[in-house]
Amino acid sequence: MAVRIGSVKIKRRDTTKDSLFMVSAVMFILFALIIPAGAEKDDNRYAGAGICKDCHEQQIQSLQKSLHWKKAIKDSPVADKGCESCHGSAATHVSEGGGSTRDLITFSKRESARQKSGVCLTCHQNSKEIVFWDSGVHKRNDIACVDCHTIHSGARHNLKTAEPFLCLTCHKEVRTQLNKRSHHPMQEGKVKCTDCHTPHGGFGNKMVKADSTPELCYKCHAEKRGPFAFEHPPVVENCGTCHQVHGSNHENLLVSKAPQLCESCHNTGSGHTSRAYTLQNSFGGAATANKNKFFAQGCLNCHANIHGSSRSPAFVR
Ligand code: HEC
Ligand code: HEC
Ligand code: HEC
Ligand code: HEC
Ligand code: HEC
Ligand code: HEC
Ligand code: HEC
Ligand code: HEC
Ligand code: HEC
Ligand code: HEC
Repeated sequence: MAVRIGSVKIKRRDTTKDSLFMVSAVMFILFALIIPAGAEKDDNRYAGAGICKDCHEQQIQSLQKSLHWKKAIKDSPVADKGCESCHGSAATHVSEGGGSTRDLITFSKRESARQKSGVCLTCHQNSKEIVFWDSGVHKRNDIACVDCHTIHSGARHNLKTAEPFLCLTCHKEVRTQLNKRSHHPMQEGKVKCTDCHTPHGGFGNKMVKADSTPELCYKCHAEKRGPFAFEHPPVVENCGTCHQVHGSNHENLLVSKAPQLCESCHNTGSGHTSRAYTLQNSFGGAATANKNKFFAQGCLNCHANIHGSSRSPAFVR
């Protein structure tokens, strides 16, 4: 098989033992004839991006749509070693007419997650979003950059699929939660997984983008922050005690309905909660009448400011 590149003919060889001289001679001619697309040519081991064009036109076109092909950006691959900034030295690959991919980094199963991410990190280890990568759960579970990112695409942020579907391909349990009756509107496109999580790792519990759950929630539900003269302790502590944040079959993302929710903490064996639900006489009879248990008993009918109140220590309206 012979392939034409520019005006040079390259024979495909089966043997791997090309003499270094031959390789560099071919390289030299190629560099002279083809204007490498911005790639540096100070290292003989690198073939230069221009050479890839004849056989990989599609990949060049797709790459041109992404930031990685903007020469104006310092340290971008196109200003560095071109295609080989990521794929490693392609000298052998080219001299063999595309026959061998042995020396290439192909971002396939052939390389470990660590190796694949290592290539990206040569440039991105100092990127603002990536600095906590090493402490992240994804890295520890052998997830690589290219499990979420594709390079040969003009997609926003080079994502393989848009959120939340990108994340849901692996996080099936969250997908189930999002299909429940009450859910944060992610599939509806109003909230993103990455509004709350950093997929690149961080120090927050569950890679959450805040120091605590309430701090996270206040970013969008500021009215729950208070300050309230009378605080409901579990609210300040962890919204997740009462809310299943991704989705729930109970209204308002509740982990369970009132009164069970309330009774999980408030002793049902004593006082007001286990007896009459109203302290007033009503058409059900006197305040102590048994029938009144079944009347207006929704805890939230009266304790409407369950997240805290500045007027009522009992959070009543
Ligand atoms: C003469 C044609 C030719 C040239 C020039 C060429 N390639 Fe290839 N390349 C091929 C062929 C054919 C394959 C498929 C080989 C295979 O699957 O075993 C391939 C495979 C690859 C793969 C691996 C794909 C995979 O998933 O296994 C990468 C990466 C690659 N080439 C990068 C480059 C780069 C970078 C350059 C330029 C420096 C380049 N190639 C130049 C023909 C070429
Ligand atoms: C920023 C890193 C990066 C650069 C630069 C880059 N690639 Fe890739 N390339 C990848 C990754 C990662 C994959 C695996 C598939 C994917 O994620 O899109 C890949 C896949 C490929 C493949 C396999 C076929 C495919 O599309 O999946 C070929 C061939 C290839 N690249 C050629 C090239 C050529 C030619 C250039 C230069 C024009 C280039 N690559 C520049 C990262 C890069
Ligand atoms: C040779 C250096 C270099 C390599 C290698 C490299 N990148 Fe980049 N990348 C850049 C630069 C420069 C930018 C643009 C500025 C920035 O975001 O830092 C960028 C931008 C990005 C962006 C943002 C794109 C956007 O549209 O917002 C993503 C995502 C990305 N790179 C992922 C990767 C992945 C995944 C790899 C490994 C397969 C990789 N990069 C390898 C230099 C590199
Ligand atoms: C679990 C999925 C996932 C993994 C793994 C992942 N990323 Fe990302 N990355 C994303 C998502 C989602 C975004 C877009 C965030 C947004 O929309 O704000 C992104 C954005 C980026 C950006 C652009 C940031 C910006 O705001 O401009 C860069 C650069 C980047 N990733 C690099 C990397 C690198 C390098 C790795 C590997 C070390 C990596 N990513 C691993 C999901 C991932
Ligand atoms: C509104 C904020 C928010 C959004 C949006 C969100 N999460 Fe979460 N997620 C959390 C919080 C808070 C926790 C921690 C719960 C805890 O403390 O146990 C969590 C926990 C997790 C966990 C750990 C397992 C578990 O259920 O506790 C995974 C996995 C997860 N989220 C994935 C996702 C994915 C995937 C998406 C997008 C489809 C997403 N999250 C969207 C807030 C959010
Ligand atoms: C390629 C598969 C894959 C993709 C895609 C993926 N994850 Fe993960 N994620 C994992 C694995 C594996 C774990 C560790 C095991 C677990 O907790 O489920 C994990 C863990 C997590 C955790 C839990 C952290 C903890 O402390 O338990 C969060 C949060 C998370 N991922 C969010 C996301 C978000 C957000 C996205 C999309 C931007 C995403 N993931 C995309 C595989 C993936
Ligand atoms: C990125 C913004 C954002 C963050 C962060 C956020 N939420 Fe939300 N939340 C929303 C949006 C948007 C809605 C839907 C509002 C609507 O449909 O009117 C919503 C709705 C809700 C609802 C009502 C759901 C229903 O079925 O009506 C509850 C409860 C809720 N959020 C709790 C929380 C908790 C708890 C946290 C912290 C773990 C949190 N939210 C973090 C944006 C956010
Ligand atoms: C003690 C249990 C409990 C805790 C803890 C809790 N909530 Fe709630 N939350 C509720 C109940 C009950 C409702 C339903 C209120 C109703 O139906 O009147 C609710 C409703 C909501 C709603 C939707 C309706 C509305 O009022 O806007 C949002 C948003 C919300 N909570 C956010 C939060 C945030 C943010 C936190 C943490 C700072 C938090 N919740 C902590 C019990 C709790
Ligand atoms: C996770 C446990 C927990 C849950 C669930 C919970 N609470 Fe509380 N609640 C508390 C704690 C702790 C206090 C403070 C008690 C104290 O100061 O003696 C409190 C205080 C109160 C008070 C103020 C009365 C007082 O003694 O100061 C009312 C009223 C109240 N809760 C109603 C409710 C209602 C209604 C629900 C259900 C929607 C509910 N709580 C769910 C833990 C909980
Ligand atoms: C008809 C209105 C009403 C209903 C329904 C109601 N409460 Fe109350 N609750 C009050 C009032 C008013 C107070 C404060 C007066 C007092 O101290 O008795 C109070 C006080 C409390 C207190 C403070 C300590 C105590 O026992 O006095 C708790 C805890 C409480 N309610 C929980 C609940 C729970 C849980 C439910 C649902 C099972 C519920 N309440 C239903 C009106 C109501």
